[in-house]
Amino acid sequence: MNRILLLLVSFMLLGQCNQSVDDSQKQKIVLGLFDQFQMDLSKELSTSMKRTGPLGSISNCKLISPAKEKDYLDTHSIRIRRVSEKYRNPDHKPDEWESIVLQKWAKELKEGKEISVSFTKTSEGFRVMRPIKINNSLCLQCHGKSNDMDPELISQLKELYPEDRALEYEMNQLRGAFSAIWPDKSAYFKMMRHNDLNQ
Ligand code: HEC
Repeated sequence: MNRILLLLVSFMLLGQCNQSVDDSQKQKIVLGLFDQFQMDLSKELSTSMKRTGPLGSISNCKLISPAKEKDYLDTHSIRIRRVSEKYRNPDHKPDEWESIVLQKWAKELKEGKEISVSFTKTSEGFRVMRPIKINNSLCLQCHGKSNDMDPELISQLKELYPEDRALEYEMNQLRGAFSAIWPDKSAYFKMMRHNDLNQ
């Protein structure tokens, strides 16, 4: 009896695994990953700001952000990163679609409009972007007016990021975006493939 039940459950799971994930499901999953990424980053940032202040936290940001981006690619086969027109890390330079969206958002913000998620389908796969604003005065300690910042911090930033453009921001300005590419070929999560193998 137990065997029959097990077989039935296996068939049901297999059926689920073979279903492709549609675009609205992809969007939901990606937005959840953005939330997770944002939460992880802000948790790490507030801990290290308390412990070492902005000067000590910069090298922490330099390690954590790229490591998390790599982790999403390795674990989920989804490319997730932060992008900005005024990037600090050159790996966050926006591509063509990302630039178009960022410019559209900047224009809408100037016109007093609300901005939200953008998504599209391209030859690379399903793409999602969500805006990041300077929503906390903490951000200005490392992205604010250079004249108001600690000269030692500025010189460390110059050393670590010779191309740094991520300064001179004010509260509520658009800082950049979370951006994801879900390639068509990796239609399923690795997790689902893992379930498949365990059947
Ligand atoms: C301790 C200094 C520090 C603070 C505080 C800080 N950042 Fe950053 N930020 C950095 C560093 C360093 C990078 C580059 C990380 C990397 O190498 O990937 C960065 C990168 C970014 C990026 C990615 C785009 C780019 O320029 O490379 C965004 C978006 C961003 N920060 C937004 C924010 C927001 C929003 C806040 C406030 C919640 C904030 N930051 C607070 C230091 C800081």
